[in-house]
Amino acid sequence: MKFFIDTANLAQIKEANELGILDGVTTNPSLMAKEGIKGQEAIFNHYKTICEMVNGDISAEVVSTDFKGMVEEGKKLAAIHPNIVVKIPMIKDGVKAIKWFTDNGIRTNCTLVFSAGQAILCAKAGAKYVSPFIGRIDDSGWDGVLLVEQIAKIYSVQGFKTEILAASIRNPNHIIRCAEVGAHVCTSPLDSILGLLKHPLTDIGLAKFLEDAKKL
Ligand code: E4P
Repeated sequence: MKFFIDTANLAQIKEANELGILDGVTTNPSLMAKEGIKGQEAIFNHYKTICEMVNGDISAEVVSTDFKGMVEEGKKLAAIHPNIVVKIPMIKDGVKAIKWFTDNGIRTNCTLVFSAGQAILCAKAGAKYVSPFIGRIDDSGWDGVLLVEQIAKIYSVQGFKTEILAASIRNPNHIIRCAEVGAHVCTSPLDSILGLLKHPLTDIGLAKFLEDAKKL
């Protein structure tokens, strides 16, 4: 399973990248706004900086909601760097836009996916990635990982090539469960990635080894 970080924060991207296990980055307009990035030039420069920092797929989201607007905006985003993947919302014009980008050799990440039906449409249109939103599904009283499992089963039975990119990750257990049910990628906040490291018995064991090492 590939590891992406879900942030537009350069310090966090750097920290995750330095671990040596980072395969890409996902952003969205909310994450860009959180970093105080305003205006098209600043946004494009920020994407360029991220592309230069991380050798992997970088998702950049369109904000248009009509077919023509998404295509025009997506073409500009894709021109920033070869590693840019255009992120398109799961709406009717979004499906048309994904198909257009597929036919024109531009990779897409279909975002805001909350059902297996949406994931099937997204694969039919030829998206590189489908992004089911695990945490937001959990918030609505269901189990987001079960959706990842269902999509993985459908894609395997049907031979769809679209990769499942588990998004809206809230904790390390989400990452572990997504790996277990066959997600191809997990995009997570830095805290959830670092949370995988932690175990109290590791800390207790290391403290004891270091204490005993003084006796040597
Ligand atoms: C996906 O690519 C989105 O950026 C993200 O995972 C959304 O997560 P949230 O529900 O924590 O906002």
